[in-house]
Amino acid sequence: MSRLVIVSNRVADLRASTQTGGLAVALADALRERGGVWFGWNGEKEGETGGDPTVETIGKVKRVAAPLSPQDVADYYFGYANSVLWPLFHYRLDLVDYRPAFFAGYSRVNETFARQLVPFLKPDDLVWSHDYHLILLAGHLRRLGCRQRMGFFLHIPFPPPDLLHASPNHAELVDALLDYDVIGFQTHTDAGNFKLYLAEHTPAVEVGKNRFRVGERTVLIDRFPIGIDAAGFAALAEDADEEVKIDLMRRQVLGRRQIIGVDRLDYSKGLPERMKAFGRLLERHPELEKTVTFLQIAPPTREEVDAYGDIRMELEALAGSINGRFSDFNWTPVRYIHRPVSRGKLAPLFRGSQVGLVTPLRDGMNLVAKEYVAAQDPDNPGVLVLSKFAGAAEEMRQALIVNPYDIDGMARQLHRALTMPLKERQRRHAALLDHVTRQNASAWLAAFLAALKPPAGQGEARGAASKAGHEAA
Ligand code: G6P
Repeated sequence: MSRLVIVSNRVADLRASTQTGGLAVALADALRERGGVWFGWNGEKEGETGGDPTVETIGKVKRVAAPLSPQDVADYYFGYANSVLWPLFHYRLDLVDYRPAFFAGYSRVNETFARQLVPFLKPDDLVWSHDYHLILLAGHLRRLGCRQRMGFFLHIPFPPPDLLHASPNHAELVDALLDYDVIGFQTHTDAGNFKLYLAEHTPAVEVGKNRFRVGERTVLIDRFPIGIDAAGFAALAEDADEEVKIDLMRRQVLGRRQIIGVDRLDYSKGLPERMKAFGRLLERHPELEKTVTFLQIAPPTREEVDAYGDIRMELEALAGSINGRFSDFNWTPVRYIHRPVSRGKLAPLFRGSQVGLVTPLRDGMNLVAKEYVAAQDPDNPGVLVLSKFAGAAEEMRQALIVNPYDIDGMARQLHRALTMPLKERQRRHAALLDHVTRQNASAWLAAFLAALKPPAGQGEARGAASKAGHEAA
């Protein structure tokens, strides 16, 4: 069986358990299960031109991570990736900060990663790169002579062609994606948007289901909805530490229910809208006074980008004004935590919360929605309130689906969630749990790798033809 080489911007610490969803958790789960190489940025700034990668072996996984220069971090990570691609792909043209130096830095880092990765590649490896930071990687690897099968998975949404056109580099981005053999998206909508771009703006032709002819090559374009390790997370949820147990008992004694939200403090997550909906709920239902609290955990993220500072100020002002208006000496309706919380604590907190509130304005998938479902007690489950603009809503139809721009609608659904009869809660949860358990991280991994493996008869021959095929470490 071919080795797997995963490339992603961040290479998480496989031993730590502090990540809160997204790319890191899914990859750590997948790699621990299968083994392989994981290559990326080590999160450090170093030197004028970056530095050499360091290699660490953890169980079945070889972790290869390199520092970047301060200029590269500014242009590639905070610049093109997070001030252009992130807002653009989340349909937020108003927040795009386009500067030519950003794209140059983005291309430079993708090329550096390619150069650093080549010595670790074997001829018949499967190379799988992840997310919007690495769109140009396959192109640079190909120019260095690599002939391995290469796949790309986009964890975030892909915008409709008209929006993509707002980027001066739209053609380069799409051409670069077509250097991969497999291009994976989270949802039908995202894959559909990409195919629409191909049809409208490129000579690529569909030659079979999800197969496109691009020059001499065939590229597979499909959706691979990402999942979690549902059983593992459920086990974590049942194992509350003393602190969490005390918090649960205190709420039980006081007869208080909890609504929980957990997201990086990102403008795509719809946090102010969610806070307003909770305020509207309290305004419309004075009988809920002292019977419900809203716990929002929103760890800091990408703080050097202005848009993140703005959203933080807005959210803190809203939390403060709701608490100022409704609190009493013995009740604080909003608890807002702007620090990371470990998964070991999050899982039992999800289990002890009667409502999971996941209301992004746009999201690739949203693994918190899946984790909330996996963490519940099936006999007495909580209710998931989910934005129709999260990729997860394409399949998690038994959640209460809301429009995050409609504050009154969200307040109504929150009330419905808090008053939902046990039977209905159980019925909805059972269906959601079934989905989350079946479409888990291993199923996602297996589906993508099945698409990436060489077509019958081409495996060894293709690998042997590689010019770049020696492992250095
Ligand atoms: C999202 C992205 C990931 C990214 C994560 C954390 O989930 O899809 O690629 O790693 O956010 O963001 P950060 O900028 O801290 O890596």
